[in-house]
Amino acid sequence: MCNIELKLEHIQKSYTRPVLTDVNLSVFNESYIAILGKSGSGKSTLLNILGLVESFDSGEYCFNGVKIRQAKDYAKLRLENIGFIFQAYNLIPTLSCAENILLPTLYSSKKQRDFDELVELLDIKPLLEQKVTTLSGGEKQRVAIARSLILDPGIILADEPTGNLDPYNKEIVFDLLQKENKRGCAVVLITHDWDLGNKAKTTFVLEGGRLIEKK
Ligand SMILES: Nc1ncnc2c1ncn2[C@@H]1O[C@H](COP(=O)(O)OP(=O)(O)OP(=O)(O)O)[C@@H](O)[C@H]1O
Ligand SMILES: [Mg+2]
Repeated sequence: MCNIELKLEHIQKSYTRPVLTDVNLSVFNESYIAILGKSGSGKSTLLNILGLVESFDSGEYCFNGVKIRQAKDYAKLRLENIGFIFQAYNLIPTLSCAENILLPTLYSSKKQRDFDELVELLDIKPLLEQKVTTLSGGEKQRVAIARSLILDPGIILADEPTGNLDPYNKEIVFDLLQKENKRGCAVVLITHDWDLGNKAKTTFVLEGGRLIEKK
């Protein structure tokens, strides 16, 4: 498990209009942060910036001592430190489930997690040879979660990871995130589900382009 120390200071990001106006956030291995907020408030934008997928306009982002400039320059840092569960899954449609899960291991020499254990945890064994285009939303979500964990990241960024899950699978994913956090993996979770949000150690609402902590 790698060390995680992330700091966002006064982050601003606009598209056609301002989305993030002044975001400040620190994340460490023991962090378990939930971010809630209205649709369009900028939650995915913020997670994409944290995950080095998206650039920002101004402010400072320090990732394990590295001052981030253009997000696209940090592919290796991202691959080896971050497990990203995207809102739209971002699975490769031409590949099977097993190939999707193992894809990150082709680009890194980092030791991988036990594949069979992950598959068991997420209850996806019968799906492994199936093309991902033939899966249901909830099945895609669980395959995407397995892929995010295969390189044993120091931080999991999860954009509505239970959005398409039934209560049973929601519980599986929630337990998994809790377990990962207990073994020292930071978790930043976006959710519309206050039950899930309130179970995090720290809960923020993104409103007016800023994070407001809920006590
Ligand atoms: N690439 C882009 N180009 C232009 N506008 C964008 C782009 N990405 C996001 N936006 C806009 O930025 C705003 C924030 O989008 P974002 O996806 O971060 O919202 P969100 O809080 O994740 O919403 P949801 O809960 O619906 O997922 C929205 O108004 C969206 O239209
Ligand atoms: Mg979103």
